[in-house]
Amino acid sequence: MDNLFSYEGKRCLFAGCFSGMGEAAARVVQSLGGEIVAADIKKPSSFEYERYLEVDLSDPAAIEQMVAETAGAGPIDRLFYCAGLPGGRFTNVEVMMVNFVGLRHTIETAIPHMPGNGAVVSISSSAGMAYMMNLDKITPLLETVGFDQARAWVEDNAKHDWMDGYAFSKMCVIAYTMRRAPGLTTDTGIRLNCTSPGPTDTPMMPAFVEQAGAAFMDAYPKPVGRNSTSEEQGWPLAFLNSDAASYVSGENLYTDGAGAAGLSTGTLKVELPVGD
Ligand SMILES: NC(=O)c1ccc[n+]([C@@H]2O[C@H](COP(=O)([O-])OP(=O)(O)OC[C@H]3O[C@@H](n4cnc5c(N)ncnc54)[C@H](O)[C@@H]3O)[C@@H](O)[C@H]2O)c1
Repeated sequence: MDNLFSYEGKRCLFAGCFSGMGEAAARVVQSLGGEIVAADIKKPSSFEYERYLEVDLSDPAAIEQMVAETAGAGPIDRLFYCAGLPGGRFTNVEVMMVNFVGLRHTIETAIPHMPGNGAVVSISSSAGMAYMMNLDKITPLLETVGFDQARAWVEDNAKHDWMDGYAFSKMCVIAYTMRRAPGLTTDTGIRLNCTSPGPTDTPMMPAFVEQAGAAFMDAYPKPVGRNSTSEEQGWPLAFLNSDAASYVSGENLYTDGAGAAGLSTGTLKVELPVGD
């Protein structure tokens, strides 16, 4: 039987792989035989790559150059968008640019260069769980065309209290994945999925603690009893973009140890303190 988890012969573009989940996913994919094109604002050092492209994923021209350079040297069999910014230290607009607008632009720019059995995975968050209750706010952004229209929409709406940057960006990633995948998969064969991790020990975690408070992060639902590791997020990302997931598209996979399951069914009841 073929090993459908194998990445032998697959060229994979990683947008956001200097640290955390993207770095872990790249190491997993490399261990499964994949060839890595590494793109990030910082140069990774913990795995080997065919090439490194320095890119600011909030800059549309840089995104287009990254995709053109990657596609100019071979196929983009798989795309992993793992870059992200936390709230707090960054403005709502900065967070939205990297977490959603740049993500969508990267995916849409790469799609024409991907083969019919291609696949794309990105990272949302369990913080985006309330996307269904906010579709009235999310949909107008999803209906913008191109980076500049999306950026203008974000700038116009950045002051609303519902636009907290981080959680809203993650709701947008889930809604975009679910709305875009059916047509994309029908038209091209390319699959589109995302994961929604719970709290994970990566270099981003201190920013969450600083922003929300240690008490909030401690009380955040974690049925496994601890935060996840980057590797525990890297493997599900690798699965979704592997041939083993050939019938999986339009999926938002909660990789949060049953936190979202418990909250959405009322079997987990938590009171989250605000700040410390
Ligand atoms: N850590 C958590 O608890 C947690 C939980 C749920 C979701 N997430 C999401 O997981 C994803 C990965 O984050 P992480 O936790 O691994 O943190 P991380 O900070 O280790 O990784 C973020 C990566 O994005 C890159 N990046 C940031 N801005 C960029 C830009 N403008 N251009 C290019 N690259 C840029 C960074 O260099 C880094 O490699 C993010 O989308 C984050 O929101 C994190």
